[in-house]
Amino acid sequence: MITNNTTPIKINDPMYFNLFSNLQGNILKPHGRTFSNHIFITFKNDKVEEAKAFIASLAENKITYFHKQIEQHEEFNKNNIDKKTFCNIYFTALFYKYLGENMKQHFEASFTNQMKEADLNDSPVDASWNNIHIMILVANADEKIIEEETKVILDTISDLIIKSFVEKGNKLKINREISDKEHFGYKDGISNPIFLDENKRDINYFDDFAPLALALVQDPFVTNPDAYGSYLVFRKLEQNVNLFKKIEDEIEKKFEIDGGALLIGRFENGVPVVLSNDVESNTEMNDFDFTNDITGSKCPMHAHIRVTNPRDDSSKSHRIIRRAIPYGDYIDKPEPKPTKGVGLLFMCFQSSIANQFEFIQKNANSINQFDSIIGQNNSDINTFSFAKIYGDPTSLCNYDIPKLVTFKGGEYFFAPSKPYLNGLKNSLV
Ligand code: HEM
Repeated sequence: MITNNTTPIKINDPMYFNLFSNLQGNILKPHGRTFSNHIFITFKNDKVEEAKAFIASLAENKITYFHKQIEQHEEFNKNNIDKKTFCNIYFTALFYKYLGENMKQHFEASFTNQMKEADLNDSPVDASWNNIHIMILVANADEKIIEEETKVILDTISDLIIKSFVEKGNKLKINREISDKEHFGYKDGISNPIFLDENKRDINYFDDFAPLALALVQDPFVTNPDAYGSYLVFRKLEQNVNLFKKIEDEIEKKFEIDGGALLIGRFENGVPVVLSNDVESNTEMNDFDFTNDITGSKCPMHAHIRVTNPRDDSSKSHRIIRRAIPYGDYIDKPEPKPTKGVGLLFMCFQSSIANQFEFIQKNANSINQFDSIIGQNNSDINTFSFAKIYGDPTSLCNYDIPKLVTFKGGEYFFAPSKPYLNGLKNSLV
């Protein structure tokens, strides 16, 4: 199978030319734009043919397939001007059903059952998250451009839809600079599986290479052997920044340890706590594992990056490809920090929602391995364990951490291939 590669792939490898031309962008490489609108749409029952025609036209004129994404990226590197809109489309199981496809035979059960059936301990969410058909992602460095593009899309289909809503994502502006940090103030997007030769690096401890099969599955409804797609999980996660900062301060005052770094597993600038307890140290950012810290006296067992990627052999197949973007403005003032209204539009790609996202999320929910950043337990307070003295297991103590992140809604999607999307034109009756 072409996706069971054992080394990173060169973008211009002729063997992968067709696969990359047929695959939507953002899966193997992030689109990287500062602003991104996520348009959720439900079509009227009697508008199937019109919906197909709309999507076929979008597929022909707007969708950024992987090769196109690379072209845009190269152009950007040459001219440093990035006004090109990145556009993708994703379908829910409900939409495949609406199109008359027999998905049960072709997709994994987690996808066809949808997120609300997953046993994730999610709190109830606004009814707008019910019955979504598609999500269109439009992203650009210029917010005005995506606002216009979003308006054009919604105007074009106004007669075809029952409802739509937009979730706006934006990289955070901190000290007037566009940053890679999320709302708690920590650098994000450092660790992700590596598919491409251009991203590979020297490895001593942790090899983040992944075969394409970690992200891609064959598009089930086309015969073209080079047509692949990927499952996408979308979750709107609200962050209580005020409470996070309070906990961080409390731990710091009591124990003179960086509380936030213990919760995340990295300092704000990304330095992994398992390698150093000094934020200024010049450590590797990603070449580490936890074999020298089995008690969790350097990086707590409950730390977000340790729960979500234990970096051992058994966790390799559960890795996800994260493509999150924050929402809401970053508040630069030290106080008061927001308690709601800001957070992360968490997105991840994978070849199996059950084996990857759900596996990780359920681990993060479990009492024994509770992750205070994304875990959802029945109780509002959970016990977290860390060492008062860095690296000293005899100094391990318990500390109660309240809920810091709240699930606000989401859904499971599939990113169809170009041949499938183009085929919608031919299937018009
Ligand atoms: C508001 C919610 C979240 C926040 C604030 C957050 C924040 C972060 C930060 C700051 C990092 C470290 C940067 C990096 O290693 O790239 C990280 C890593 C990571 N997060 Fe999250 N995250 C959130 C939600 C999630 C969710 C829902 C999942 C999956 C279910 C997840 C899975 C991961 C994984 C797999 C890593 C990389 C771990 C590694 O490979 O070392 N995160 N996150």
